[in-house]
Amino acid sequence: MSMTRREFVAGVALGALGGTASGATAASQIALKQSMRAAKLPIIICAGNGFATIADGYRLLADGADTLEAALRVVRGPEDDPNDDSVGLGGLPNEEGVVELDASCMHGPSRRAGAVGGVHNIKNVSLLAREVMLHTGHVMLVGEGAERFALARGFKREDLLTEDSRKVWLLWKEAHSDWWGPGLADPGWKERLHSGNAAQYYQRLQAAAQDLGIEPSRRTAAIHKVLFPPTGTIHCSALNAHGEMSGCTTTSGLAWKIPGRLGDSPIIGAGCYTDQDIGSAGATGSGEENIKVAGAHTIVENMRKGMSPFDAGMDALKRIVRNYGGDMQRLKFLDMTYYVLRKDGAYAGVSLWTGYEPGRPHTIAVHDGTARLEKTVSLYEGASQEWPPIVAPPKSTL
Ligand code: GLY
Repeated sequence: MSMTRREFVAGVALGALGGTASGATAASQIALKQSMRAAKLPIIICAGNGFATIADGYRLLADGADTLEAALRVVRGPEDDPNDDSVGLGGLPNEEGVVELDASCMHGPSRRAGAVGGVHNIKNVSLLAREVMLHTGHVMLVGEGAERFALARGFKREDLLTEDSRKVWLLWKEAHSDWWGPGLADPGWKERLHSGNAAQYYQRLQAAAQDLGIEPSRRTAAIHKVLFPPTGTIHCSALNAHGEMSGCTTTSGLAWKIPGRLGDSPIIGAGCYTDQDIGSAGATGSGEENIKVAGAHTIVENMRKGMSPFDAGMDALKRIVRNYGGDMQRLKFLDMTYYVLRKDGAYAGVSLWTGYEPGRPHTIAVHDGTARLEKTVSLYEGASQEWPPIVAPPKSTL
């Protein structure tokens, strides 16, 4: 990827990094449209994977429920859904095959927060984050302590690893290890998955996916997840007719992570931040990058200084770009989407790249009486990773 292939879309302040501002007008117009459409309250926004349940959250809001209850209702849908492998049940596991979940929430009216990280066996960690907020003097619990607290509060232990996610994890193991998959003595032994050139590697991944029993219709997606470990997540922010607001974020984190790795989602101020006086923001994408720019807090503070939701989000994205000195050879491996809601109902969805894959743009789901899925406005045009992103190992290692 280079700047010639991936045109710089909305980079107003990035001229120094080599981009052109050719798309800035179009991007601003979309942002303006987003802001103007959101004049109606109540309003609820979330990542695109919450579209199926956003109406449930909106109904609660419209019926006068608490804003955090409404936001939690939305994210609970993907947490309960075994087919959403980015959160809760069916989330893609860590490198040891264990699903490890993180979540956080902020309640605007009471100015309180709760978070959990590295939790095993408890599906609805967004609700657990709320329990930490409501029933402890702490803000964050992690690991075993968080699980014991969940059991004490009446949550059920469940095996969160679905068959589908287990098979994709096994494919990842076989793709990255010499010791998983058929050994040398096996009549069906093939060369190591990752040896040879990119095309051979891809073909072997296809064959390994077949051997593992991954359905043909799921194989391409499974291979993509092996080659490009996803960080799928859901964030939701809700604002009621009285101007009260809350936010929450929940995730299974980076697929194949080292056990114990926490991303941005459980970090108050990174994956989620709500200030009752200003607005609410949350993130999905490369957690490590978002932690370093304290994304959600940065965005809310930007709005406090008078920036629009769109500009506030774009500024946070540009801070990520700045952390890499604008080096596109590295930035192509990162992605970040921010969901921004201001106290007056103006909102924006902004992303570093158009989508994770060509033809699958990042989206923000919005409900202000009408439910809709909108493309986010991206800083750069293109998918965040060339696909398949295969680099053949040097000959000396074969
Ligand atoms: N944004 C989710 C994560 O990186 O864990």
